[in-house]
This record gives sequence, structure tokens and C-alpha cells, in this order.
Amino acid sequence: MSYQFMAPFTFKKGITLKNRMVMAPTTTMSSFYDGQVTNDEINFYGARSGDLGLIIGEVANVIASGKGFEGELSIASDDDIPGLSALADAMKHNGTKAVLQIFHAGRKSNDQILRGQQPVSASAVRAVFPADSQEPRALTADEIDDIITAFGAATRRAIAAGFDGVELHGANTYLLQQFFSPNSNQRTDKWGGDQQARMGFAKAVIASAQAAIDQYADRPFLLGYRISPEEIETPGIRLADSLAFVDMLGDSVVDYVHVSMGSAHRTSLNDKTDKTPILTQIKDQLAGRKPLIGVGSVETPQDAEDVLALGTDLVAMGREMIREPRWVQKVADHDEASIRYQLSPSDMDELQIPRAMQDYLNGAFYSVMHFTTDPNAAADYQNQAAPMEGFEKKM
Ligand SMILES: Cc1cc2nc3c(=O)[nH]c(=O)nc-3n(C[C@H](O)[C@H](O)[C@H](O)COP(=O)(O)O)c2cc1C
Repeated sequence: MSYQFMAPFTFKKGITLKNRMVMAPTTTMSSFYDGQVTNDEINFYGARSGDLGLIIGEVANVIASGKGFEGELSIASDDDIPGLSALADAMKHNGTKAVLQIFHAGRKSNDQILRGQQPVSASAVRAVFPADSQEPRALTADEIDDIITAFGAATRRAIAAGFDGVELHGANTYLLQQFFSPNSNQRTDKWGGDQQARMGFAKAVIASAQAAIDQYADRPFLLGYRISPEEIETPGIRLADSLAFVDMLGDSVVDYVHVSMGSAHRTSLNDKTDKTPILTQIKDQLAGRKPLIGVGSVETPQDAEDVLALGTDLVAMGREMIREPRWVQKVADHDEASIRYQLSPSDMDELQIPRAMQDYLNGAFYSVMHFTTDPNAAADYQNQAAPMEGFEKKM
């Protein structure tokens, strides 16, 4: 059986992926207290590289105020470059390409994680989820400029560390999304206002990253953008807003668009009469201008084919790559029968899943990881938001 997803893919910049399978960014929560790379992270990615076309590495913060959780990777300082370089090496084994996701968590943080500092955001509006979220402080105009500059500096560091690109994390309710959202952005200066004005921060961050690429990259270097298509708060981002945002991305310098969803086949969470899969709508909006990465509950080879059939160019897997590091190799070897779709707690060390990540999977993600010990392991996201998308799990 020959699968479409095993065919190579070439970006306009000339970077070729040996197949269309991508590892979605999955935070391991295993960096040192100061965000430096640990051997646990290197081993986790090392065990998964080599067969995949592309690994998108877990999110890294571009500036100290952007830290969103303990054990988070940092790309905020030049001191981080040697560790990041070892991480890029581990991901790039045997021709797999490596992109690093970069972000600022904004209001999705708290004063404990920020060592006593209040979280910041576009406006001083508390997130509805989680219930114990802290009220952020509105960023000053100068601070916004500093963050935009920091995205450029982080891109320079990713280039120096040997990555093949960076992905701007504009999804899962982090700062880039907070600026686009009419919920979290109620600013009256140039960074707030109507839909177009609320895209201004994302545009400035894209320009800052691109300027770093123009100045420092001595090789083709990818710039990706990840979005979440909807919010459920009112006011909040609706699909029509995201389609306008995608239109902006279509005309921008980004090399691909990546849509964060728990199910690649999801339809609108807000408008139940809209039966067209979100990915299909985004593909139509892009009209061939940018490649599209689909993600969400892909497990079997047929699932991956079905996501390509929605009109995407690449298919990412998050949880399945945690459970099955050798997924692509097994498909290539016609050894599909041995692909793991469940995760045994006692296999996690052998799968090079760091201990901190094991705790995370056993906690927030337990019901969706398909643990062999979970009597309800058949349950999945279906048409619901996944835990990290910034909603409560039960909607
Ligand atoms: C443990 C874990 C960590 C994650 N960390 C990130 C992250 O750092 N950045 C991000 O954009 N998404 C993150 N996600 C979301 C995944 O990239 C992906 O969108 C989601 O898991 C749905 O894909 P899946 O059904 O293949 O797992 C994470 C998901 C999991 C399970």
C-alpha cells in the first residue's frame, strides 16, 4: 500500500521534507529551572527523529515575561544557544527537519511562574479559563516593542542553533492570540480596535522574525504560524475572524499555516449549523498561497490519509508520536501491525518520555492519552477542544 503522506514535500524556499508526516509541538516540561535544555529533552526528540519529515519542537519563550509554565524551554538569551544547538542536532537525525516553536504566554501564566511578577497581556482582562487565572497587567507600548524585538532575537538564536525554522505560536490562547482576540484585546491605541487593527501585533512579530531571517540566515529558513481557529467566549475569535487572519497570512511572508485542533475534522464550535470542516475552509481561504498543516487525533495511516484528503499538505501528530516514536518507520517497513495506539505507564521510560512529561500526561492528559490502564481509553476529543487549547475540557 503506498500512502500519499510518504511522498516528499518541498517548501517554496527549497526545503524538502522526505515525507509529509510532522511531529506536532508537544511540551515535555523538562527544561531546567532557567529554561536550558536537558538531556531528557534531547533523548525524547532523539528517539523520534530520523523517519519523520519534520519535527516541530516544543514551545520556547522569547523573553522572561513570556514564561507560561515550569520546565518550559527558553530561547530568550544567547546563553541558551549551545543547549538549543544540541536539541536541533537530536531532532535533525537522518534528514528529519527541525523547526522550533516560539512564543510569549501572556496572561496564560501566573506570578508564581513569573517569580513574583504579574502576568502581562494586551489588556488587563482575566482569562475565563482556568477558573483561577490571574488578572494580567496591560503591556505598555514600549513593552510591546520589546516583545516584538524579542521574537526577532529568538529567531536569530534559532538560526544560530541550527534549526531549519521557527513557528510563531499564535494558538492555544497565548499572547499572539490574545492580541487578536476581541476578548483579551480591548486596547484603544494602535494595537487594538477592529479586526484588522488586532492583527497588527501578529504582523509586527512576523516582520521582526523575517527581518532576523533576512539578516542572519545563511540557508533557507522556515517561518511558520500556528493559529487556533475559534474561541468560545463572547466576545471572542469566531471562525470568520480566523479566515480573515488566514487571508492576512496568505499574503504574508510565512512559509506555512498550522491549525491547532484536537480533531482535524472539527467543524465550528460556535456555529453548529456550519458543517464544513474548519481545515477545508482554511484551505479554501488560502487558495494555494501557503501550505497547510492539519493536526488532531491522527493515529492510523488511514487517519493521516484522511487529513490530506481534507486539503492539507502536511499532517502532524502529537499524542501518537509520544506513544509511537517509530510510527513512520513501521509504515515504511510494512509493519503497521506493531504500531502502538495505546500507552502503557510501564513503557514510558523506554519511550524516552521524560519524568516531568509522564506526570503531565498522567494528569491533564490522562483521559486522552489512551493509557492501557484507562477503562475509558476509547474516549477522544471528537468535536471538542483539546486541553491545551485554552478551554475547559468539558464545554
Ligand atoms: C503533552 C502535550 C504537549 C503539548 N504542547 C504543545 C506545545 O508546546 N505547543 C503547541 O502548539 N501545542 C502543544 N500541544 C498540542 C499538540 O501540538 C496538538 O495540537 C494536539 O495534541 C492535537 O494533536 P494530537 O491529537 O495528534 O495529539 C501539546 C499536546 C500534548 C498532548
